[in-house]
Amino acid sequence: MMKNITHSFEFQEFGSSAELMVSDQELLESARAATASAYAPYSHYHVGAAVKLANGKVFSGSNQENMAFPAGLCAERVAVFAASSNFPDVAITAIAITAKAETFEVTEPVPPCGMCRQAIVEYEMKFNQNIRIILSGEKGKVLIIDGMNKLLPFMFFEIGLVNSGKK
Ligand code: THU
Repeated sequence: MMKNITHSFEFQEFGSSAELMVSDQELLESARAATASAYAPYSHYHVGAAVKLANGKVFSGSNQENMAFPAGLCAERVAVFAASSNFPDVAITAIAITAKAETFEVTEPVPPCGMCRQAIVEYEMKFNQNIRIILSGEKGKVLIIDGMNKLLPFMFFEIGLVNSGKK
């Protein structure tokens, strides 16, 4: 029988980063610092991400563009892949994302693209633990979302791999 199903999720909105708890503020500062290392000669949009691991280590990353456009990579995946390749057995607990543009001020929280959502949610599955998502622009409101899965309902996954405990 056909059913109409509603999906919703709760998240937190803060007026500014000054309202965040210190550990979130620090991770966001690392993401802000990471925008300086972006290689963005094509978009002129400098994205920064910082990932926190359960052992307290922080890895940051920035977007790296390429003349052969699809060869580039988003800041979030640069940061998450750096963290995971250095500490493959340590859970990721949080990621902060922000951006700086060359010609305008980024006044809205910067959300991760669909491909980054898919890439990051897999680490939630791997460690069976949600990743805290901290989204901010250069100023203004900050969003906190408890888990990448919230931002990616109906995510792709291979049920066989999930059931076998490999993810
Ligand atoms: N970008 C990111 O770094 N993260 C995202 O989630 C989406 C987009 C980068 C890719 C490109 O270098 C620039 O932002 C503009 O699209």
